[in-house]
Amino acid sequence: MGQSKAARLRPAVQYMQQVGVSPARTWNQFVEQLDRKHGRQLAKHLVDLMTGQLQLETNANSLYDVKNATLALSLDFATYSADLYRRFFDWVLSRRLDQVDSILDIGCDNGLATCFFATCFPAARVVGIDISETAVARARELGDRLRLTNVSFEVQDFQTFKESRQEKPFDLIISLRSITELIADLNNVHYWSIENLHQRLETARGLRPSDGTETIEYVSSTRSAIAVAERVASLLGPTGTFLSLERLTHAGALHAWIYALSQAKLQVDFAHSTWLSFHEVGIEQQFPLLSVKKGASETNDPVACTYKLLQLVSPNHVEMGRTLHDDRAVLAFRHSTDKIFVEGVHAVYPDGAGEERKEIWKDGRSILEYHLTDRGFRELTRYAKERLAGQRDALHDWMQLKTEQNCQCTLYIEPFEHGTNGLS
Ligand SMILES: C[S@@+](CC[C@H](N)C(=O)[O-])C[C@H]1O[C@@H](n2cnc3c(N)ncnc32)[C@H](O)[C@@H]1O
Repeated sequence: MGQSKAARLRPAVQYMQQVGVSPARTWNQFVEQLDRKHGRQLAKHLVDLMTGQLQLETNANSLYDVKNATLALSLDFATYSADLYRRFFDWVLSRRLDQVDSILDIGCDNGLATCFFATCFPAARVVGIDISETAVARARELGDRLRLTNVSFEVQDFQTFKESRQEKPFDLIISLRSITELIADLNNVHYWSIENLHQRLETARGLRPSDGTETIEYVSSTRSAIAVAERVASLLGPTGTFLSLERLTHAGALHAWIYALSQAKLQVDFAHSTWLSFHEVGIEQQFPLLSVKKGASETNDPVACTYKLLQLVSPNHVEMGRTLHDDRAVLAFRHSTDKIFVEGVHAVYPDGAGEERKEIWKDGRSILEYHLTDRGFRELTRYAKERLAGQRDALHDWMQLKTEQNCQCTLYIEPFEHGTNGLS
């Protein structure tokens, strides 16, 4: 099928054609291409590394070293994310940013995005940095292949990066999926409600004695998030823009990143922030795309900011008989203001494996069942009010089941802990 004339003219599409990267439509297509062009053994190795990384078991850096062994392999690997690149590139160009004399790409990998921006902003000085030597070697190769003279790449750890050659800060700083690697456990913050998470962050920041609720890794992830945000702030010009498109998998992680930005006196510019929709090997995805400026304002309150961003993508309520998941459930639960708590079960898994709750709430017309964990899982279902007795029985059965699974269970008829049940 031929592309429309408009699509043919889009710089993002043109560029992706030039580098020979088009979106893989399915996982099989992605793997088959690697298999056919680079051999079965390497394809299998990469798939194993990708799966391992998703399970947080493998050192992510080894994946980048393997997939960046050659530029051809690196570009074929990028077909997994080609739709993300195209949509991100389109979106950035639609912003019509002016006065962009210098651009920094944090965690540039093989330079695919960096070289796009160097192509579109030929008068700008564009710098890509990455901690992986192999990635930077491929990025330099790509820059040479595209005959770009305004781009340079450096092997640098962003945590210690200081621009040496030029004192002027950057007009545009980009992080495309890199922040979650710089702050390894950003997606692993534990929370019951965004408000509760925020209180805990504030407690940790104030270095008051621990109240026993925050864990060590939780506090350290917050500190490293703030350190990264502060480094961004130190490299960004006073009127510069920081674009952060991250794989933040739940509202708690989004809040933790916004909180860190606010601590570094960086604020989310709502008029230019959005959720980027794209597909990865045919699977629909949405990542928050934050446009960030220097300065602090009342709209910079991280709790309000998180909810405001969630509202850009989520409906405010759950229909009768329907279930909402993840951030949509968080928001719909919060928006249901006339609900009254009925009862809930709190289950603590053995060996610190996590905590889980199921709660029943009612309003005039219906009942709500909220199922949540301290690792970001959320599910909200609305039932007809006639189902109340049945759902309470089901809740008690669930408690029995969890007890048999060696969980420590508590049945509560008052909200479990003040301010931790989402009502705060
Ligand atoms: C998920 S990849 C994203 C790559 C690229 N931005 C993109 O979207 O195509 C994350 C990149 O961050 C790099 N990285 C991880 N930790 C880093 C650090 N401390 N400093 C600089 N780069 C880092 C990795 O080597 C990897 O190339």
